[in-house]
Amino acid sequence: MVEFKKLSKHTGVEVFGVDLSRTQPQAVIDEINRLFVEHCVILFRDQKLTQEELVNATGMFGEVANYDRPKDLQTDVQKRQLPAIMLITNIREDGKPIGALPDGEMWFHHDMIHNVRPHKATLLYSIEIPTWGGNTVFSNLYAAYDALPVDLKEKVEGRMALNAFNYGARFKGDPTALKARPEAIHPAVRIHEDTGRKAIYMDRLMTQNIIGLQQEESDAVLERIFDHCEQDEFLYEHAWRKGDALMWDNRSSIHARKDFPADQIRLMWRTTLKGAPVMAPAE
Ligand SMILES: [Fe+2]
Repeated sequence: MVEFKKLSKHTGVEVFGVDLSRTQPQAVIDEINRLFVEHCVILFRDQKLTQEELVNATGMFGEVANYDRPKDLQTDVQKRQLPAIMLITNIREDGKPIGALPDGEMWFHHDMIHNVRPHKATLLYSIEIPTWGGNTVFSNLYAAYDALPVDLKEKVEGRMALNAFNYGARFKGDPTALKARPEAIHPAVRIHEDTGRKAIYMDRLMTQNIIGLQQEESDAVLERIFDHCEQDEFLYEHAWRKGDALMWDNRSSIHARKDFPADQIRLMWRTTLKGAPVMAPAE
């Protein structure tokens, strides 16, 4: 009853005919949720939403969370948005960005993996986009886990990993990031509570080390795992159009941002959904 098409072999589905400014019938929401937990990313094109409507739309798929960055680390303009909305933009006033994550490329990451109780999903809605670049690339980490070489599976099975993030960092060691650095320990491989499937739960931007391995071995294992996760066959690369709303699952996917011109405006609103405690596979 919901018309859709797959966007790549493993990752992403475009759903047609859904106007997110309207409350959708439960059967439609259930169908979208089914596609969502399986394909990790849902695309809704041609949306026209106010902040209130984006928050309401987010609420159709779960419990809306507030933007997680502490107030004292938010810009003044950010503080004037609805509490659920994160402003992602390179717009500047007096030379200072009015929102977060203003410029350029960002390494692959799970949103919120640095939190003890990460938000399960993110919705990103595009208001203004540059003429080129700024694509968001997603990888399906169920598929990446299933295809992980056996020796790497053995290295991470049953292990925990430390995840940390300096707010605003676009890559590890980004000197422009804030010093505030929340961190959280999670299973290296998690269970998705809705599908029961295993997914790799580590990423290049935020995962620091696998606990119980020497740093040198951990670095080598992580490098191989990240290279594996970021292979083309697991990816969907989204070229944004104005009015796109993209919802992704932070339990089963990672995403990265590609570079875009610094002299063109990019403006997005982000919301998130609260998540359940992270589950480790049963031994
Ligand atoms: Fe992100």
